[in-house]
Parts: sequence; structure tokens; C-alpha cells
Amino acid sequence: MKFFLDSADVAVIEHWYPTGIVDGVTTNPSLIAKSGQPLHATIAKIAAIAEGDPVSAEVVATDHEGMLREATALSQIAQNVVIKLPMTPDGMSACRDLRARDIRVNVTLVFSLAQALIAAKCGASFVSPFVGRLDDHVAPGAGMQLIDNIVTAYDQYDYDTEVLVASVRSRDHIEEAAVLGADIVTLPPKILGEMYQHPLTDKGLEAFLRDWKESQK
Ligand code: E4P
Repeated sequence: MKFFLDSADVAVIEHWYPTGIVDGVTTNPSLIAKSGQPLHATIAKIAAIAEGDPVSAEVVATDHEGMLREATALSQIAQNVVIKLPMTPDGMSACRDLRARDIRVNVTLVFSLAQALIAAKCGASFVSPFVGRLDDHVAPGAGMQLIDNIVTAYDQYDYDTEVLVASVRSRDHIEEAAVLGADIVTLPPKILGEMYQHPLTDKGLEAFLRDWKESQK
């Protein structure tokens, strides 16, 4: 399973990349706004840190022509920039056009299997179902049920679109997505840090070090 960082904070991405467990980065307009930095300069810095790994940059136009214009400019920043397009009719026709130009697309704001099927048919490289928002707004567990449905359906038809689990709220989301065979999870940095932790690891290490210290007296 690949781990992407869900962040537009260059310092945070610089901190995490050397760990070797990060395989790409996703951003969105809210994360860019939160960073307080200009979009193109920020994506350029992140793309350089990620060294060839996919870095998703989202358009803010909502019409087909505007999306293509923004996508063209974003894709010129670096070869590893992936264009994030919303799951709308205009977004999906732009997805087909970009695919024809060999520009990779990440279809975002996906909340149903029907939408995920359209994304795959339009040639998306990545589809981003938002599990946390589904849990928040529909019912707990609704997000993972969608991942299960997408992974199962995609397998039946040999789509090559990768399932990128987004809007992750907890370590449980990651573990469940891995068991279901999702290709990628994109993680807020805080959750990535929490993945290293287990109380029994701390307790066990404390006991090992205490026993060792005692034996050296
Ligand atoms: C990433 O691609 C998504 O934009 C992000 O995971 C959304 O997360 P949120 O629901 O916590 O805003």
C-alpha cells in the first residue's frame, strides 16, 4: 500500500519524505489556502521534494475550458504533477482530454461507486473517495463500505485507476483500507505520526531497557 501525505505544508513534507514511507503528496485548495503560500510556487517546491512521486494539484475553475487552462499550467510545473479534478460532468470531460494528452488525473470529491465508475471510464489515474466525510455525513462505516465496493467493482473490470483513500480521520481507516486492498491512502501528517505508535511498544521498550540496566549493575 502506498502512503501519500495530505498536506501543502512544505516544511512538513520536507520532514516526512526522508523517512522513506511517503510515496506521494495530495493537496487541495483548502490546504493551499491554509499554507498561506502561492499555489504554483508551493506545488513546485513539493514536486521537487517528492522527486518523481505523484503530487496532486487541484484546479479551481468549474468549467471545462477553465479546468483545461489551469491543468495545462499546473502540469507544466513538473513532470510528477497530477491534476486533481472534481467529480462533475465538466471535470470528467476535462479528465478525458487530459488523459488523451498523457496528463495524469486524480478525480476528487467522490462519494459513490457510480462516481468512481465514471472516473475510471474517463481514464483517471487515481480516484479519491472521501471516507471521513462519508462517515461524518452519512453513517460511521459508510466510507469503508464505499472503498470495499470500489475495490471489488474495479477488480471485476480490470480498470487501471488506483483507489486513493482520502479524507482519512484515523489509523483504523488506514488499516481497514489496507485489508480491503485499496492502492493508496492519503494521510494528514498527524495520523502518519500516530501510525508508529502502540502503548505496548512503549511499555515493552521501557521493560527491555530497565532489565538491561539492572543486568549491568
Ligand atoms: C485529499 O485528496 C482530500 O482533499 C482530503 O483528504 C480531504 O480531507 P478532509 O475531508 O479532511 O478535508
